[in-house]
Amino acid sequence: MAGKVLVADEDAGVQRLLQQLLRDEGYEVVVATDGLDAFRIWEREAPAVVIVDATLAGLNGHDLAERIRAAEAPGVRVPIIVLTLAGDVAEKVRALRAGADDYLVKPFHPAELLARLQSLTSRFSPGDALVGRSAMGRIHAYYGAKGGVGTTTIALNTGIALAKLGRRVCVVDANLQFGDHRVFMDLPMDRKGIADAVNAPTIDAELLRSLVQPHETGIDMLLAPRSPEAADLVTANHLYQVLTALAGVYDYVIVDIDKRLDDLNLMVLEISSQIFLVLTADLPSLKNARLVLETIGRLGYDQAKVRLVLNRANAHTGIGPKSAEKALRRPIDHQVTNDYRDAIAALNTGAPVMGDRADSALGKSIVQFAKVIDNLGSRMANRPQLGSGR
Ligand SMILES: Nc1ncnc2c1ncn2[C@@H]1O[C@H](COP(=O)(O)OP(=O)(O)OP(=O)(O)O)[C@@H](O)[C@H]1O
Ligand SMILES: [Mg+2]
Repeated sequence: MAGKVLVADEDAGVQRLLQQLLRDEGYEVVVATDGLDAFRIWEREAPAVVIVDATLAGLNGHDLAERIRAAEAPGVRVPIIVLTLAGDVAEKVRALRAGADDYLVKPFHPAELLARLQSLTSRFSPGDALVGRSAMGRIHAYYGAKGGVGTTTIALNTGIALAKLGRRVCVVDANLQFGDHRVFMDLPMDRKGIADAVNAPTIDAELLRSLVQPHETGIDMLLAPRSPEAADLVTANHLYQVLTALAGVYDYVIVDIDKRLDDLNLMVLEISSQIFLVLTADLPSLKNARLVLETIGRLGYDQAKVRLVLNRANAHTGIGPKSAEKALRRPIDHQVTNDYRDAIAALNTGAPVMGDRADSALGKSIVQFAKVIDNLGSRMANRPQLGSGR
């Protein structure tokens, strides 16, 4: 027996289809037609998987997912798939934010449901090297107020510092056109990356496992396409699927994005539980940081998830952290020290600061930063109030 699946859907046709399909695969199926009923069945029967319709009466699919997550014992997490009618990113984000692990747009092909189910149950099965305990699933975006402020340096090295703290970390190079993680980490051009995910029938943890590059520093890396032309192949929807699947298996998914505020980057900002806005103390960077903060406010994102990171904080630019705070009308949350010698030496040798130079001023500053952020915030799914203004 493959386990028990709770199907919560009012539609008799969907119930019949799922019952037949899942029974043929060896699952036991229990059906609920009302959300409150579904919650009681979950409490009583502890199914291995929950499949719930987003528009269910009583408690809708999102409410049910939220209620189950709130009631689960620590370390326990039943995979939840939400069935939705709308296939747009906002609807999918809603499902995941409520605590679901995956969504399917109705009408769906039975083979797709089975593939998702299989991917979820293998992702959640004990004994899996990546799973062991349930992942913290925090998606963190690193966004530079302007080019060259040190976003990639901070994103990669913070990832390594978090891995050294015992976290499972995947760093994603979502600077799709000009991503340079291969250069920073001395990885050959033939290594696979995010572009290899776009032609796959489903983007799931299994596929991503074959694409991420484990690095000796302890992080896994999902690399940018090899050429700028290939960047166009990766859509916001692809990247969304990649990031949410990674969040199911890693404690931290660190996403290095470029500074365009296009659909793709806005999606990343939307689903991230923290946005680290990296800036330096110079006028263009401060001007852009203000514009970004204003834009984020206008889009209805929770300003509290934006954290300002002043890089090269003690450089002699004539503008100190205090003046930067005044110009931005909000406090700087983190400061990273100026250490050009170690930063550039790391870059030119392809050995990251947190690898060979962890004892340098920059290394120590990054470790301190990583410790602070490790104590911050929760995974996206547990913060349903985020972005509720949208
Ligand atoms: N804290 C620091 N102290 C001194 N130099 C730094 C520091 N952080 C980064 N640098 C240097 O600044 C330069 C730009 O860094 P990096 O590529 O990380 O920035 P970026 O914002 O990601 O740039 P891009 O816009 O090209 O993606 C590099 O030469 C790097 O070594
Ligand atoms: Mg960069």
